[in-house]
Amino acid sequence: MGFDIAAIRAALMDDALPIRALDTVDSTNTECRRALAAGETRCLVLADAQSAGRGRMGRSFHSPAGSGLYMSLLFRPAAGAADAVGVTTFAAAATAESIEELTGLSCGIKWVNDLYLNGKKVCGILTEGVGAAVIVGIGVNLTPAPMPAEIAHIAGCLGRGDIRDALAGRIAAALLRYRPGDSGHMDAYRRRSIILGRRVRFTLNGRPLKGRAAAVGDGGELLVDTAEGRVALCSGEISLDEIEW
Ligand code: BTN
Repeated sequence: MGFDIAAIRAALMDDALPIRALDTVDSTNTECRRALAAGETRCLVLADAQSAGRGRMGRSFHSPAGSGLYMSLLFRPAAGAADAVGVTTFAAAATAESIEELTGLSCGIKWVNDLYLNGKKVCGILTEGVGAAVIVGIGVNLTPAPMPAEIAHIAGCLGRGDIRDALAGRIAAALLRYRPGDSGHMDAYRRRSIILGRRVRFTLNGRPLKGRAAAVGDGGELLVDTAEGRVALCSGEISLDEIEW
């Protein structure tokens, strides 16, 4: 399905940002890396399908044609060192807000940056720092599509294919406003958290642990109360009682 560049630009409110809208690509994040290597400092890459979509922790991200938003933004956050966790929590809050504005649907955030709707994952975010540049890749499942057996039970979708281009523009516009060190988005992030107060499992330094998710700090760190006391997780992944046990 072709992209409506005018609709993307209208939401983006930035006429100068280069946009590459592709039928198919290996990965929009990888395409941003190629753009960076070729000397570009900013660009928005969109694809109707990805043949090698990438997820966090070396996983793949299933990206069938015409059923999702697959986008990556390459940019250099203004002033200060780019911090991946800050961009990541910002991207999660901005994506949830943009979805809500366009559809009225309220997505929850599972730390650190997965979006859930009705107990199913509808969006994943892959942030990569390359020197002073940041590549934020966002995949949103918009319409139902056959999923690989191993994720079929957990994958959901928004049920709205019509918002793809406006959503891409809004999310990119929000990301371009990100300022490193600014934690102003964290209240919006915490309000949408689906894990606070709940029992979670995780591994810390190779050790399996469990506890109750107590808080998310302004730096995006997750504080968990365990039998051994409170621990802070700065990266990684947690499993939730109802979702994955
Ligand atoms: C995850 O859930 O682990 C993160 C998934 C991130 C997927 C998006 S789709 C657009 C961009 N290109 C990629 O290859 N990955 C991200």
